[in-house]
Amino acid sequence: MGVPEAGVTQVRGQPNQHSRVIMVDVAVLISGNGTNLQSLINSCSDDNFPARIALVISNNPHAKGLIRAKAAGIPTKIVNHRHFENRELFEESLHKVLKDNRIKLICLAGFMRILGANFINLWRNRILNIHPSLLPSFKGLHTHERALEAGVLFTGCTVHFVNPELDDGPIIAQAVIAINNDDTPDSLAAKVLIQEHAIYPPALKLVAEGRIRVVGNKVTIKGVTYASEYMISPIT
Ligand code: GRF
Repeated sequence: MGVPEAGVTQVRGQPNQHSRVIMVDVAVLISGNGTNLQSLINSCSDDNFPARIALVISNNPHAKGLIRAKAAGIPTKIVNHRHFENRELFEESLHKVLKDNRIKLICLAGFMRILGANFINLWRNRILNIHPSLLPSFKGLHTHERALEAGVLFTGCTVHFVNPELDDGPIIAQAVIAINNDDTPDSLAAKVLIQEHAIYPPALKLVAEGRIRVVGNKVTIKGVTYASEYMISPIT
C-alpha cells in the first residue's frame, strides 16, 4: 500500500476567471441510508465548494445511499467486507480503489465498519467521520439510548479526524442540542441528524481549503479565533 498524495485535483470554472475554486476529490464511505451523504452531495453541487465527491463506496450492496449517489451522477463502488477473508484484505482493496480514483480525502458517513490502524495511518488526517454524540462522550453504538440513560442535559454530534481508537481523533466541528424530558432515542436521533447535516459540509470545506492545523489532539482553524464559528448550538 502506498501513501496517498496531498493536493489538488481539479479546478472549477475557466482558467482566467477570478472565481475559480480549487477542488479536492473526496470519497464518501457509506453503509446505509446516506442522508449525510446527501447533505454532502447538496453542498458539493455548489460551484464554490472546494471539494467534489468523486466516488461513493459502500460495503453494503443494498445501501440506500447508493441510489442517492447514482441520482447525483456520482460513480459508486461496492467493496463488500463479506467477500474478504479478513479485515486487512478488505482494507487493502478499499485502499486500492481509493488510490486508483486519486482520492485525497475520505468522509465516513454512516460507514458501519471499524477501520484498522494500518489503513488509518496511511490516511492520517485525511479521514473525517461524523458521530452522533458530543465526543468524547458516548463513543460506539446506541448513543441516544446511552445519553438518555446517563441523564445528560445536552447531546449532539461531532465531525472529527479518524485515528486508530474507536470514534476518536481531533474534533473539527460539533453541534449541541438540548434533551427534553419527553425525548426518546428516536426523537433524539431525528434532532441530532438534522445537526449532522448542518455541520458535516462546513467541516469538509475547512479541510478541503487546507485551513486546518492539527497539533496533538487539537484542531486550530486558520483565520478563526473563536471556536463558536464551528460550534452550532441551536437550543431553543
Ligand atoms: C448517522 O447518525 C451517523 O452519525 C451515524 O450513522 C447515521 C448514518 O446516517 N454514524 P445516514 O446513513 O447518513 O443517514
